[in-house]
Amino acid sequence: MKLLALLPAASAVLLSEAPAGTPGQVHLAYTSDPTSMSITWTARPDTPCTKPVVRYGDSDDVVAASTLGYATTNDTIFTATMTGLDGDAVCYQVGCSETDQFSDSETFFPLPTDGDSFAFIAFGDMGVSTAAKSTVANMAADLAKNEYDFVLHNGDISYARGDDGIWDEWFDLLQPAMQSTPYMVTPGNHDLLHSDSGGEDGIPYSLRFAMPDTTLGDGLGDERLYYSWVHRFVTFINLSTDSDYAEGTDQYEWLEKTLASVDREKTPWVIVSGHKNLYCSSTYGSNDRSSTTRGDAGDLTKELEPLFEKYGVDIYIGAHIHAYERTYPVAKNATAVDKDCVEEGGEDGVDVYRNGEGVVYFVLGMSGAGHLGEEWPDPEWSAVHAEEYGYAALSFANRTSVKLEFVANGGEEGQGDGPLVRDSVWVVKDQRE
Ligand SMILES: [Fe+2]
Repeated sequence: MKLLALLPAASAVLLSEAPAGTPGQVHLAYTSDPTSMSITWTARPDTPCTKPVVRYGDSDDVVAASTLGYATTNDTIFTATMTGLDGDAVCYQVGCSETDQFSDSETFFPLPTDGDSFAFIAFGDMGVSTAAKSTVANMAADLAKNEYDFVLHNGDISYARGDDGIWDEWFDLLQPAMQSTPYMVTPGNHDLLHSDSGGEDGIPYSLRFAMPDTTLGDGLGDERLYYSWVHRFVTFINLSTDSDYAEGTDQYEWLEKTLASVDREKTPWVIVSGHKNLYCSSTYGSNDRSSTTRGDAGDLTKELEPLFEKYGVDIYIGAHIHAYERTYPVAKNATAVDKDCVEEGGEDGVDVYRNGEGVVYFVLGMSGAGHLGEEWPDPEWSAVHAEEYGYAALSFANRTSVKLEFVANGGEEGQGDGPLVRDSVWVVKDQRE
């Protein structure tokens, strides 16, 4: 549990009223260094800034920011990395030293390296729809409990499709969450692919998010869009499923090297996320298990599942389909489905997958983008699906047990009386080989 009471007394100097013309779209992200945090924000064209800085921790800690790039609205996007963080709450302001225009003071918690329990929120496919706004409202109330370390948004972020005004609207909607909770992203087809992104080609995505170990580029294909980071006792690996990933490509080589180097004593769990799905039973679009097209389930399974099985990936988090689904532990191109590991109604009445053989796949594309009206043929490996809006909360109770809950908004258009826990499952690994 994180407590705001941990605020250092020296931070009180930052709690002054922010002047007009303050920076916007402030958002945090982890770096590969647990004692650092990256921060990115936007300055409007009418408030130019030549000396962007972050003030944090106490009044003596100031770090200069660099320019990531420019939006088509001529907003300037700045980024900086705060270093030397020690696990206690950190107060900060971003702004402009020459004009003395700063954001309101906000607080975050650096990446904790110890502790046997933690939780995070995950979803994809949001946009700025009415359903998305309901999801954000429910998530914000949940985040206010200070029980979540970070948010994972695995692709199809704003659905701007070339309209930077929609990126601005999306960032304004999410800033209250992102300015105090690290927001980790992976690119989806609507962020990256030429047609699906309205010609954005990943450029706004690359300029507006600074993720660990990615080479910030112009979105034209030479930047890295995949990364991993160690979080307490979990290795998180975030893939770009609409970039090249076949055997022999840079991403594949990087993935195998990353998986092979995981220290399972230190991080017994490996959670991989990407936008598109190896397993999703929806008949819509890319879920054809026989397809050899990049990004389709058949091709992703052919290229990546052998690595997942060889190195014992525990959970894969996908999105893309605007619904929720969870599988049983599944392997070998759907020919091995482990239902014997299911214990119905565990201690809290929630089903348990105990030491299942295979990877548990979740589809979490239900945060706001419109439902697709597809069929769900209910294959043997699919446990549950639901066409509702909301988000997922994944909570590690200890080093062997994680519970996923699908927190639905309720209501036909996602504007119901939620949040309502619509599905939940424990994934337990208490006998690792
Ligand atoms: Fe998508």
